[in-house]
Amino acid sequence: MSDFKHNPVLLRESIEALLIRNSCDGKQYLNSGIFVDGTYGRGGHSIELLNNLDERSKLFVFDKDPDAITAASLLSLRDPRVHVIHNSFVRMEEELLSRNINKVDGIMLDLGVSSPQLDDSARGFSFLHEGPLDMRMDTTKGVTVAKWLEKADIEEIRKVIFDYGDERFATKIAREIVSRRKIRPIRTTTELVKCVLSVVHKTETGKHPATRTFQALRIHINNELEELSLAFPSFIKLLKPYGRLVAISFHSLEDRIVKRMIRNFELPSDFYSKLPLTESELPKPILRSLGRIFPGDHEILENKRSRSAVLRIAERTAAPFSDFLKSYNPYS
Ligand SMILES: C[S@@+](CC[C@H](N)C(=O)[O-])C[C@H]1O[C@@H](n2cnc3c(N)ncnc32)[C@H](O)[C@@H]1O
Repeated sequence: MSDFKHNPVLLRESIEALLIRNSCDGKQYLNSGIFVDGTYGRGGHSIELLNNLDERSKLFVFDKDPDAITAASLLSLRDPRVHVIHNSFVRMEEELLSRNINKVDGIMLDLGVSSPQLDDSARGFSFLHEGPLDMRMDTTKGVTVAKWLEKADIEEIRKVIFDYGDERFATKIAREIVSRRKIRPIRTTTELVKCVLSVVHKTETGKHPATRTFQALRIHINNELEELSLAFPSFIKLLKPYGRLVAISFHSLEDRIVKRMIRNFELPSDFYSKLPLTESELPKPILRSLGRIFPGDHEILENKRSRSAVLRIAERTAAPFSDFLKSYNPYS
């Protein structure tokens, strides 16, 4: 396991958001319960959460990355409250059910890629380091970016780079990749960077020309957006009444999914098409948005990676999940 460091983003804000419960006599903090960290990384958020919880509490931590799991396992040896699960958060519900857990007090998500993943050249996530073009978070399965680029056609490559990177030169980059691979497959980060630089000449201020392409390929190869959309309803199902979901996103595609999902569980998207409704037919929201928080200037100065972060907080209401689903489709 690499010992690269990860600086947790919006740390105090996310732990407070997970633990505060508003009661009639003001704010109270939970100091006991069952919590889940869906994206352990190097445990910045988990460790701070554990510091605020008593010895009867439990913390289930997930990560797809074997290095993150090694780090989490070391923590679990020192702290019996920690339970480590090497899997995607998309499998959270079944993994917890198999451990006899069907309700939790809070779920923490700190989405995307960690600093150790970016800094370790062997992982191939960064255009700054020479390494194999891998980019899989879970190195025990799946297809590397290099392998995918060997077979995908121009249109598939263009679509990924455009949709997930919002790259206006997506067509040129896709054509260049396909033309270069006829001579030699693109196997390293440096080869991909050279390929992008040969067709992207205009640079956005402060951004490397390959930033968007690398982001797009990473999101695609790890199925990041699909997994987030798929998993979201199970997070809501798992939360106890007044349990909290706290999610940090780093780009607008992720944040849009979190925002839309929270809104759909507050008021389903087909609500207006069903009007008028009688009082008894009115849906009882099963989730309540508690807003969003951005990092302050001080945090951005200390940790540049935090500049694009947004934290969204939502609270489960006491309304039953099944009633809500009977008449509405929050997945749409
Ligand atoms: C931003 S880092 C989390 C950092 C962590 N909060 C900390 O303070 O150290 C995101 C982590 O989530 C993991 N990850 C991303 N998508 C995942 C998924 N669908 N399921 C489980 N882990 C995931 C990545 O492998 C990475 O380790």
